[in-house]
Amino acid sequence: MSYPAQESIIKTLGILAALAEEVSALLDEMGPTAHTQRIGMRDYHQGVLYGQPCVIALTRVGKVAAAATTATLLHEFNVERVVFTGVAGGIAENVQVGDVVIGSALAQHDLDARPFFPRFEVPLLHTSRFATSDALSALLLRCAAEFLAGQPAAPAAHLGLIATGDQFLNSAQALARLRADMPEALCVEMEGAAVAQVCHEFGVPCAVMRTVSDRADDDSHIDFPLFLRDVASVYSAGILRRFLATLPELTQAEEAFNTPPA
Ligand code: ADE
Repeated sequence: MSYPAQESIIKTLGILAALAEEVSALLDEMGPTAHTQRIGMRDYHQGVLYGQPCVIALTRVGKVAAAATTATLLHEFNVERVVFTGVAGGIAENVQVGDVVIGSALAQHDLDARPFFPRFEVPLLHTSRFATSDALSALLLRCAAEFLAGQPAAPAAHLGLIATGDQFLNSAQALARLRADMPEALCVEMEGAAVAQVCHEFGVPCAVMRTVSDRADDDSHIDFPLFLRDVASVYSAGILRRFLATLPELTQAEEAFNTPPA
């Protein structure tokens, strides 16, 4: 068995979100020590949060925007882990507004290169789903459950498939179609599968966390902005603070795993 070099134990974490509300509290906490670099019309903020070196960036909305930002984050900033945070429309029956979904895997519900490839399969990558890191997702799920237990009405934390596409779902009809197409999907959003694919291609572990802002139905465009402003930013910062403070446990576990027996 070979063991990797031990010199770089603390790994840099990339934190991505589509919209400013979703990470503004963490950006404020990074404070004046943050160093900002602008590349490809996006700002990458490097700094330290809870003792962890981090780079925070806004992807903007949609798969192309998310893929471009993730590729730059991984290529230019030596990021070794990525967490995406944001909101989503709930599509499974038991996923309610205010709940949090952690993605075990991400799939593009609008990808269709038939007849050359099966529906949803990413051409030439032989898969329609990109798994997230088990370790990062388990830690996020634990932090989400602990945070939500202290909130009014104690919303639930779920782990499962997240569907991504370049559409804001805004009708009962579109919701029914997506449920029929991807029955296991818990929620729908517009960036996660792009982030997960780029992380897969760079060999970097990632996790995706979504607070459910609406039910992807006829009212979703009304629920979404209110929720984003009043709840999502608070949940996102609350859960990520816990996650950052607990991340050293994961690092110690990895370190123990990689240390040769005496
Ligand atoms: N993000 C939040 N709500 C959404 C919806 N209804 N459709 C797509 N992405 C979303």
